[in-house]
Amino acid sequence: MLNLKSPMVVVSNRLPFVLKRNENGELQRKQSAGGLVTAVAPVVIQCGGLWVGWPGIHMDDPHQSVPESDPGDMGPSAGLKSEQVVPVHVEEQLFDDYYNGCCNATFWPLFHSMPDRAVFVADMWEVRMEFGLVRSAACLILSAFDCSMLGLGLAIVNMSLPRGQSYSTVNVMFAYQTVDALKKMKMKNQEGEERIPLVWIHDYHLMLAANYIRQECEEQNLQCKLGFFLHIPFPPWDIFRLFPWDNEVLQGILGNDLVGFHIEDYCRNFLDCCQRRLGCRVDRVHNLVDVAGRTVKVRALPIGIPYKRFEEMANAAPRALQSSQQIVLGVDRLDYTKGLVNRIRSFERFLEKHPEYLGKVALLQVAVPSRTDVKEYQQLKEQMDLEIGRINGRFSTLNWSPIRYIYGCISQDELAAYYRDSSVALVTPLRDGMNLVAKEYVACQVDKPGVLILSPFAGAGETMHEALLVNPYELDDVADTLHRALTMPIDEREMRMYHLKKREQTMNVDFWLTSFLKVSIKTFPGHNVIGVH
Ligand code: G6P
Repeated sequence: MLNLKSPMVVVSNRLPFVLKRNENGELQRKQSAGGLVTAVAPVVIQCGGLWVGWPGIHMDDPHQSVPESDPGDMGPSAGLKSEQVVPVHVEEQLFDDYYNGCCNATFWPLFHSMPDRAVFVADMWEVRMEFGLVRSAACLILSAFDCSMLGLGLAIVNMSLPRGQSYSTVNVMFAYQTVDALKKMKMKNQEGEERIPLVWIHDYHLMLAANYIRQECEEQNLQCKLGFFLHIPFPPWDIFRLFPWDNEVLQGILGNDLVGFHIEDYCRNFLDCCQRRLGCRVDRVHNLVDVAGRTVKVRALPIGIPYKRFEEMANAAPRALQSSQQIVLGVDRLDYTKGLVNRIRSFERFLEKHPEYLGKVALLQVAVPSRTDVKEYQQLKEQMDLEIGRINGRFSTLNWSPIRYIYGCISQDELAAYYRDSSVALVTPLRDGMNLVAKEYVACQVDKPGVLILSPFAGAGETMHEALLVNPYELDDVADTLHRALTMPIDEREMRMYHLKKREQTMNVDFWLTSFLKVSIKTFPGHNVIGVH
């Protein structure tokens, strides 16, 4: 367990839970079970830190405080007290422009090197507005909310803020709320030692927040240190430069003192962009960028999973797949970056090439609904329905269908059982920052080990060397590799899985968190002293 002496303030688009209304209309927390929350929430709780984020619901009364957790709640963030949670309320239309628009229709595809899918609409993305102006607008909205004048807040959003400022405005709102919370924090511990907070900003939603926090803190004479972690790929210069306001984004990220990416390739891409677009001096040996009289440290910090938790779940879960057939498993958010259409076509190719497997093997694809308001995601859903219908129609018999398709959420226990009982996991994204499904599958191989097939275009492909690597664009390659996996001798499966498990067990999510904190100690000497027990 990490013991952090200075408070950590996490700033992320989502809080570690979402708020939902129960049947009586009361707000309740619904825990998120992701690895980030599992690792980071206990540390925030222990150090008396804060979590700043969107509560997942648009509230009529933004003053309503976040409820405490339910007494029986055993989730990782259950111990986070209401006063440690800073909900950022963003008006619906503004949030839609920022989240569905800027974040998920532009940055998401662009950063995944799919510029053709990215929407560039000038007045949606303009971020050149003066900080002062954006801040005044954001403050006006917040203070209108503060005075319960929701109507006025909305009018300001609609009248004085062009849609183009959605991304920067929401980033300012997050920054403003963060600084407001920092002001209320005790900056000394009981022994009178200084506790300078470490503000840790997450992901592509908040790439401009650091500079706003820095400026606001300077004005208010507050101290804090700023770190950032990007959970998605950082694209090569040639792709990144397609974004018309690329320099603002770079400057925004460089507002932090420490910047983390999953793998070295993303660090290199970022350094290239800083050098070529901003003309910054870059030290490629030590991964440093000089900007505005400061030096920003850039680090590859590959995220892991709560390994033990998955292993335990796999040991405990009852058998899920009552079938004599072998199961090939895919588990993904329904997202075009995950290569789902290519995957099911590859499976079709496999059945064409190996008819001896008809009736003996099935692809179980779990697709978790995601960003359903974005057009690209709606189209993908339709395409999946059509393709799966076509392939099943082509091969199904009375007792067997080649593809079982679950469009929805499944429980963590069920998931662990699926992982454990599948012969092969097909993890074939076209591009992915890391991909935790590959790691979860490995952690759940507690019985006879299966085989992991992995795309090299996922960050995980860089370290999981014992997986079978395939190019998801080459359907024949995937089909042949699937055949190899299904016929792989047990001793080879065991040997590969042994090494995969060993690595993930060590490089788990706590290791990732500790690594980030260790680098942050070196970056900010004297602050954030940690002990690891
Ligand atoms: C990716 C991003 C996360 C995001 C998640 C789910 O993993 O890196 O920041 O939370 O997708 O997407 P959503 O849009 O539902 O938050």
